[in-house]
Amino acid sequence: MRESDRVTRAVSRGALTAALGLTLLATSGSAAGPAGHSSLEARFLDSAAGRDWPGPGRTYGEQHFSPLTQINARNVSQLGLAWSLDLDVGNSVTQPIAVNGVLYFVTGTGILHAVDAVSGRELWRYDARVWEHETDKMRAAWGTRGVTWWNGVAYFGTMDGRLIAIDAASGKERWTVETTQHGDGRFITGAPRVFDGKVLIGHGGADWAAIRGYVTCYDAATGRQLWRFYTVPGNPAGGFESEAMKMAAATWHGEWWKQGGGGTAWNAMSYDPETHTVFIGTGNGAPWNHKVRSAGQGDNLFLSSIVALDADSGAYKWHYQTNPGENWDYNAAMDMELADLTIDGSPRKVLMTAPKNGFFYVIDRLNGKLISATPFAHVTWASGIDLTTGRPIEVPGSRFENGPFGMAPGPVGAHSWLPMAYSPQSRLAYIPVIEMEMKLYDAFQKPEDWRRPPFLANNGADGVDMDETKPKGSSALVALDPVAGKIAWRVPTPTAVSGGVLATAGGLVFQGTVDNRFSAYAAGTGKRVWSFNAGAPVIAPPIAYTVNGRQYVTVLSGSGGSLVLVGDAFKDHPVGYREQARRVLTFAIGGRMRLPRAVPYVLKPVSDPGFAPNPQAELRGYAYYAQTCIMCHGRDASALGGAAPDLRASPAILSPDTFHAVARDGALQQLGMPPFRDLSDSMIEDIRQYVRMKAREAGAKVR
Ligand code: HEC
Repeated sequence: MRESDRVTRAVSRGALTAALGLTLLATSGSAAGPAGHSSLEARFLDSAAGRDWPGPGRTYGEQHFSPLTQINARNVSQLGLAWSLDLDVGNSVTQPIAVNGVLYFVTGTGILHAVDAVSGRELWRYDARVWEHETDKMRAAWGTRGVTWWNGVAYFGTMDGRLIAIDAASGKERWTVETTQHGDGRFITGAPRVFDGKVLIGHGGADWAAIRGYVTCYDAATGRQLWRFYTVPGNPAGGFESEAMKMAAATWHGEWWKQGGGGTAWNAMSYDPETHTVFIGTGNGAPWNHKVRSAGQGDNLFLSSIVALDADSGAYKWHYQTNPGENWDYNAAMDMELADLTIDGSPRKVLMTAPKNGFFYVIDRLNGKLISATPFAHVTWASGIDLTTGRPIEVPGSRFENGPFGMAPGPVGAHSWLPMAYSPQSRLAYIPVIEMEMKLYDAFQKPEDWRRPPFLANNGADGVDMDETKPKGSSALVALDPVAGKIAWRVPTPTAVSGGVLATAGGLVFQGTVDNRFSAYAAGTGKRVWSFNAGAPVIAPPIAYTVNGRQYVTVLSGSGGSLVLVGDAFKDHPVGYREQARRVLTFAIGGRMRLPRAVPYVLKPVSDPGFAPNPQAELRGYAYYAQTCIMCHGRDASALGGAAPDLRASPAILSPDTFHAVARDGALQQLGMPPFRDLSDSMIEDIRQYVRMKAREAGAKVR
C-alpha cells in the first residue's frame, strides 16, 4: 500500500505542477478580493465569484450555493459526465472541496484524496492509518466525511480523533493533533472549519460513551491549541472552565456528569467575519432520556443548541436552544446557513437551520433571538414554537409520560447531516427531508434501572421501536421560503434517505437519490430538468466550481455511514459492497463519458449444508450482533445499504477460524472492518450461528 502510494505520488507530480501552472495563469490579476479582505479570505466570502469551493458549505456562511451560471436551466440538457474515478475504499457519501483545479475529499475512516479536477487523475492520497491508532473508534461506522482548505493546506479529522493538516500540493503531513483522548469514545466524522488563520473541530460519540462535548480551536499554521469550549458542564466539584459552564450547570440536575451529558458539536459550524463570531450546532443529550440524564428537570444547556462564540477567545456570546430538556435524540447539529434577509421591511442578519426536530428556524445572528420557526416535515411532538419565549409548545405525552408516543420526526430526524442549500437568488432554502415516525417509550421501570449497554451501540435510555403499523418512512426535497415561512414546493424522493443539496445561480438545485439518479431541479418550481443514471446511489452533497473558466459539478456516488440503518431505505435499491462501484463523478456541459453498465445487485446466500439450528445460540448471537455488527452489516444481517459485505453471502461465516480472525483479531482492519477483541470466543461463535441462520433463511427464499 505504502509503496504504491509513493509510486502514485511520483507519477502524479508532473500532472499537479501542470494543473497549478494553469490555474496561476487563469487567475493572475483577479486574486484581489473585496476591499479589506485578503485574497485568501476572499474565497470564503459570500461575495466570492465561486471559482473555488474551499470549505464544506463553500463560504463562511455555508449556504451550499454556487454563484456560477454557466450551467443553467437553459443548457442543463447538455450536461454530461466529463470523467469518473473509481474508489476502492468504502464510505463515499462525503463531500469534496475544490481549490485551484484540485478536488480533495475523504473516504473510509480517514483517507484524504487529491484529484485533478480536469482529468480525474488521482494526484496523491494520504491514509491516516486509523487502525494503527485506535480500532475501537472505527466501530461507529459513520466514517469521516469532510475536509476544508486554508492557505495551501487541507485539514481533516479522523475517526480516531486526530485533526491532520496536509500540504495541499504535495500530500505531505504538516502537523497532527489529538483532539480527543485514547479510549474516550469521541470520534470525528464532521469537517473542520477554518477562519482567520484558525481551524476549529468538534467530535461525536455521545450515543456511544459517557462524554461531554467540546470544540477545539487550533492555529492553522502550527496546530497549537488556542481555545476549547465545552458544550455541557462537568462535575461542579472539579470547578467550571468558564462562566458559561457555571450558567449551564444551573440547568442540570442529579449527577449528570456521570453519563457525560452529550451535546457534541459533531457536524455544523459557520462563521460571521463581520462580528467575528463562530456558531456551533450541538447534539442530543447522553443518554437521550431526560429522566435518566437530569432527573427529568432543567433545560440542560447547551444541548440541542446553536451557540455563538467569540472567534478569537472561544468566549460565549449567546445561545438558542431548540429543545430544552432534550429527550429524543433531537440534534441541533444540522448546517447553519447565514444570510441577509429583508423581514417585515427591515434588513436582518440571520442564521437559518433545519435541525432534526422538524422546524426551520430563522434566528437573528447578532443576538440569538428567534425570528420565525416553520415546520418543514410532519411534526407530532410540538404544536409550534412560541416566538416570544423561543420555546417549543410540547404536545402532552411526547415525553412518553403516558406510555409509548409516536414521535415525528423520529430520532433519525426530519433533516440530518446531509446539508440543505440556500439560494440568495431564488430566496429559497432547499432541505433534504426525511419523514420517519417512531414509537418511543421508557424502557425501564425506574430511571435508576437504566444501564448503558455493555458493548457499543447505546441508543440512550429509551426503548426505540419502529411502529409496525406505519410505513417505513419517506423522503422529499422541500423548498422553503424563510421570509414568508411557507413551503414553496415539495418533490417526493425515493425511500427514507434524501441526499445533500447544492443550489446554483444557474437557477438549478442538484440532488442525488437512492435510486441511482443524480438530478437537477428548477430552483423556482421543483420541476426535474435533468437526471443522470449513476448506477449506484447518489447521497453525498454535490459541489460546483470552475477550472480554466469552465464550470464543473462534482458528486461522489456509492453508500456508507449510518444510512444503512434508515428504515428499509435500500430494500428496493440494494447495493453490493463489492459489486457496486463507488465513484467520483464530474459533470460539465458537453460531457460525453459513459459509465460501464451497472448490474443490479442480487444476493447469493452461501450454501451451508453443515448448519444445524440452535435457537438459544441464535438468540444470543442476535443480541450481540445488534449491538456491534449492525452498524455496518445492517439490520437482520442484510447489508443492502452497501456499507459492508452482506455476511449472508460471505464464505467467511462457514469457517470458525476465518470468522474469528476477521471479527475479533482484525484480519481486515486496514479495509475498515474493526476488530472486536472484547467479545469472547463463545460470543463470536453465537454471532456466527445467528448469521448462518440468516443465510439459511435467505437461501430458502432464493431457492
Ligand atoms: C465499522 C463497520 C463495521 C462493523 C461495525 C463490523 N464490520 Fe465486518 N466488515 C466491515 C467492512 C468494511 C468489511 C469489508 C472489508 C473488506 O473490504 O474486505 C467487513 C468484513 C467482514 C467480514 C468478511 C466478509 C467477507 O466476505 O469478506 C466478516 C466475517 C465480518 N466483517 C464480520 C463482522 C462481525 C461479526 C461484526 C460484529 C462483531 C462486524 N463485522 C462489524 C465493516 C464492519
